[in-house]
Amino acid sequence: MKRIGVLTSGGDAPGMNAAIRAVVRKAIYEGLEVVGIFHGYQGLIDGNMELLNLGSVGDIIQRGGTKLYSARCPEFRTEEGQQKAIEQLKANGIEGLVIIGGDGSYRGSMTLTKKGFPCVGIPGTIDNDIPGTDYTLGFDTALNTVIDCIDKIRDTATSHDRTFIVEVMGRDAGDLALWAGLAGGAETIIIPEVNMNMEEVVERLKSGTSRGKKHSIIIVAEGVMSGSEFAAKLMEHANIETRVSVLGHIQRGGSPTGRDRVLASMFGAKAVEVLMAGNGGRAVGIQNHEVVDYDMNEAFERNEVFDKDMYQLSKELSI
Ligand code: F6P
Repeated sequence: MKRIGVLTSGGDAPGMNAAIRAVVRKAIYEGLEVVGIFHGYQGLIDGNMELLNLGSVGDIIQRGGTKLYSARCPEFRTEEGQQKAIEQLKANGIEGLVIIGGDGSYRGSMTLTKKGFPCVGIPGTIDNDIPGTDYTLGFDTALNTVIDCIDKIRDTATSHDRTFIVEVMGRDAGDLALWAGLAGGAETIIIPEVNMNMEEVVERLKSGTSRGKKHSIIIVAEGVMSGSEFAAKLMEHANIETRVSVLGHIQRGGSPTGRDRVLASMFGAKAVEVLMAGNGGRAVGIQNHEVVDYDMNEAFERNEVFDKDMYQLSKELSI
């Protein structure tokens, strides 16, 4: 293998730039050439790409977003789009691809692998929802962003004796909400993995009030419902007035934490090694502190990895 490509696809996540840097520098260290493909699969179809060198990825390890830009690409789901992408890969002499993104991006890379172009996936999403890896790139940074927001909201909640509802991203997964809720001392955490019990929520709020507590933070994962829907339910059930904060895309931005930068560096280097060994259809990840690669099909299995103990702990500590 002489030349590989790298692209980022789907929602951006802090640490993607650090991963691009690692892929490029590790590949050049190993004597390969690296082509950066812009705007994800759309750039692949359009031939929007350029050869990268060591300097191309300088000064990006600390930056949020992705230097290669990202996009969701409906055209790539069509046979015609895939054919165009393959023609571009051939025309540009690219023999293997590193794809940084979430499960949608992984599906695209399986398609290419099946058509003869080996692809390796690096999990890049704040949602931490990819089976086979304990952590995805960007999760730690987003977690710290959410904690910072909760701390600030708590100031106002305390000053005004208010109950706040904080809506947190995560798509269908509750990891970001659960971790942030535990770390931010939230009184109640509502996540998709646990059936919501409104009576219990109200009971917890009331028991807090009866011991003199005048403010509360409730974290609602977007996968359950929106913060304002939850506020309406609380009003309807118990006539409790709240304020709602939707954190939104602030959770996707910002300089990656040290943990995300280290993870990105290890994932990037591992992905290059896997490609060099001639393997496609693989994903890299971290399992029990060890960087691994595994069959990408395992990343599509929805085997509900949910930390019940952590959820229970959050309840025990927030009475
Ligand atoms: O997957 C990352 C994520 O930020 C989810 O948490 C969220 O549901 C979704 O992307 C938002 O997507 P978009 O930026 O396309 O609105």
